[in-house]
Amino acid sequence: MYWLGIDIGTGGSRALLVDEKGRVKAGFTAPHEDMRMEKPLWAEQRPEDWWDAARKAIQGVMAEAKVSGRNIKGVGLSGQMHGLVLLDENSAVIRPALIWCDQRSQAQVDFINQRIGKSNVVAFTANPVLTGFTLPKLLWVRDNEPAAFARVRKMLLPKDYVRFQLTGEYATEVSDASGTALFDVVMRRWSNQMADRLGVDRAILPKVYESSDITGQVTAEAAALTGLIEGTPVAGGGGDQASSAVGNGIVEPGIVSCTLGTSGVVFAHMEKATYDPQGRVHTFCHAVKGAWHVMGVTQGAGLSLQWFRNQFTPGAEYDAITAEAAGAPAGSQGLFWLPYMMGERTPHLDSTARGGWVGITAKHSRADLIRSLLEGVSYSQKDCLDVIEQLGVAVESVRASGGGARSPFWRQLLADTFGKRVVTLASQEGSAYGAAILAMTGTGAYGSVPEACRAVIREVDSVLPRPHESQLYRRGHEVYRTLYPTLRPIYGLIENLQ
Ligand code: XUL
Repeated sequence: MYWLGIDIGTGGSRALLVDEKGRVKAGFTAPHEDMRMEKPLWAEQRPEDWWDAARKAIQGVMAEAKVSGRNIKGVGLSGQMHGLVLLDENSAVIRPALIWCDQRSQAQVDFINQRIGKSNVVAFTANPVLTGFTLPKLLWVRDNEPAAFARVRKMLLPKDYVRFQLTGEYATEVSDASGTALFDVVMRRWSNQMADRLGVDRAILPKVYESSDITGQVTAEAAALTGLIEGTPVAGGGGDQASSAVGNGIVEPGIVSCTLGTSGVVFAHMEKATYDPQGRVHTFCHAVKGAWHVMGVTQGAGLSLQWFRNQFTPGAEYDAITAEAAGAPAGSQGLFWLPYMMGERTPHLDSTARGGWVGITAKHSRADLIRSLLEGVSYSQKDCLDVIEQLGVAVESVRASGGGARSPFWRQLLADTFGKRVVTLASQEGSAYGAAILAMTGTGAYGSVPEACRAVIREVDSVLPRPHESQLYRRGHEVYRTLYPTLRPIYGLIENLQ
């Protein structure tokens, strides 16, 4: 028997078939349309495109593995977090989704803080409200597109739109709900205080489950469209970061992960809902019952590389691009990249921050440019790790996953920048793998998520920090950390020019 994990990412939807021992039978990715960016720092995608891609990925993985729907015992869903999907009374999508990296809602964040009080927001949701979160996006639609807002009957997160198409249920789970700013993360339920004080109709919110609970079954219609069997159970799953953490076995204290996708995330498990008083990292419910997690986010991790590729070498393979980086000296001859291409979360919490190179000279080559991108993203991930360590999390090693961590060069760079052992697992599938583990737990193959992880996850390789490079990157990180505060007033000036 097999379990199907589906991750609705930013670049594409990935479906993965996993057997009861956790062995990956096959994976298939169907790409998404590019995000639509009508203005700088705006980002939208069409939920219908996610469902098309998810269907293609499901059909693709079953064809590749020659596995029929009858042999699939359960489905788990993972997805990009924070996106705003709005449905009308016929369950039709009202407008494209404002996705996780969209930064247009600063006025709404200010309104929420003023209406509720910053410290109350933290008391009610365990986090400050940020432009990336779902609630300010909802209020942006209310303020700017009242006709669209008047038609809203349901608000869903990206993977939960795919769940709705598969099962007909309006449901979510605790890890993804945590990133809406409408969720009481400590009590693991919607926050009436937030909804009621802001006039958000509670009826638009989906039902919340624990991540390994079964939220519904595949309908006859979805079965006909995907090849799955009617009645196949669909587990809650998780936001992509919580799912990736499950896929990486970050379900008990002491192990930390770094996931390099479009965004980059450093993630730690917590037995208690502890939060950073400055709100630089998020405290969210984990996909493990009764546990929480803390994570630091770099907005433009893989995005930095994707941007470079699209602008300068369209269609090139990422492996070829990172191979070029290896040709430049460590430290990129004094060139620094700031990955703030969609503002920044950890540690700056600044939606106006902008990316760029600092220190370019006529001597710099393409290889230096690329290497500096990878180094800048790694420095930013080190900022995340530093905040997590300041919260008292002991970090002995870091498990790397996501597209970026497939590169041995980048894994070594992370080890050198973090000054920690960086570990690779037998499955580097991250989010889709975690979603499959949640489905296994939900259908009773394992008694709990940690039990499933202990049974299926294996470390296969690790790289140690090299002394010379580590020292160089430690000094480089000190310089990197001075760049944002220096440039900060300038971001405001640029903002005012628009
Ligand atoms: C997490 C976050 C990203 C997105 C896209 O807070 O915004 O991880 O989920 O990957």
